[in-house]
Amino acid sequence: MTVRASAEPRHLKGAPPIRLGINIDHVATLRNARGGRNPDPVRAAKLAVEAGADNITAHLREDRRHITDEDIARLTTVKLAPLNLEMAVTEEMLSIALRVKPHATCLVPERRQEITTEGGLDVAGQIETLTPFVAKLRRAGIQVALFIDPEPEQIEASAKVRTDAIEFHTGTYCLAATKGDRRRSDRELKRLADGACQAAGLGLEVHAGHGLDYDNVGPVASIPEIVELNIGHYLVGEAIFVGLAASVARMRTVMDRARAKLRQSDTEASLGT
Ligand code: PXP
Repeated sequence: MTVRASAEPRHLKGAPPIRLGINIDHVATLRNARGGRNPDPVRAAKLAVEAGADNITAHLREDRRHITDEDIARLTTVKLAPLNLEMAVTEEMLSIALRVKPHATCLVPERRQEITTEGGLDVAGQIETLTPFVAKLRRAGIQVALFIDPEPEQIEASAKVRTDAIEFHTGTYCLAATKGDRRRSDRELKRLADGACQAAGLGLEVHAGHGLDYDNVGPVASIPEIVELNIGHYLVGEAIFVGLAASVARMRTVMDRARAKLRQSDTEASLGT
């Protein structure tokens, strides 16, 4: 398949607005630390949507360490916003998704011992498993994204398995940016930008997430092909200090500002100013 070279000029014109998905897993983690009902992730989802989130993201892990089946059932019943169900590539998760019919799924690798999703899916290594898995979800009207590292081979493989979208794991970029390692963070950002360009050229929608915060989100939101960011841990942490509505609203503002700058430079370029 032809891949657009990164040196080619981008067509920024009409870069679409960027969606914000709020990952509410960490609210459930806190609830489960005590058992019982509080804090309620569905209440958090409602507040997040009121504060400017476009989607709600929840990861139903195989070990149910945070989000539970009951949370997913409630989220699909209340219909606050489109639900993005993160899940492993297993028959159990497939049957749950086909039953609850979320708006979208994001397929992630899952290891029992990991604290969070540590890397992307090896799509290239499991094309034969993923192709029918993705097809079953899409046939049911569920959009599918694959959580991958921004590697050309994985992007090409994602197009081969006929997914709707990919979500880039931004963890390596975020870690470098937080450490102040400018060379590494620039390199990682370029990988994300080149990967987004390649994916869009192959007809894939591009999302991103993991480790994003107010300081590192701007450059990612400025990549024109990226149309959705999924953010959880930092915003739930910030909520302890400023409240969830304020933490979500501020992220919305930071992302929208980065996008507005992109549109402004697009307009200036087309006017030749
Ligand atoms: N996207 C995916 C696929 C994830 O697994 C996670 C982490 O749960 C996120 C986004 C959000 O990452 P964070 O909680 O670091 O913002």
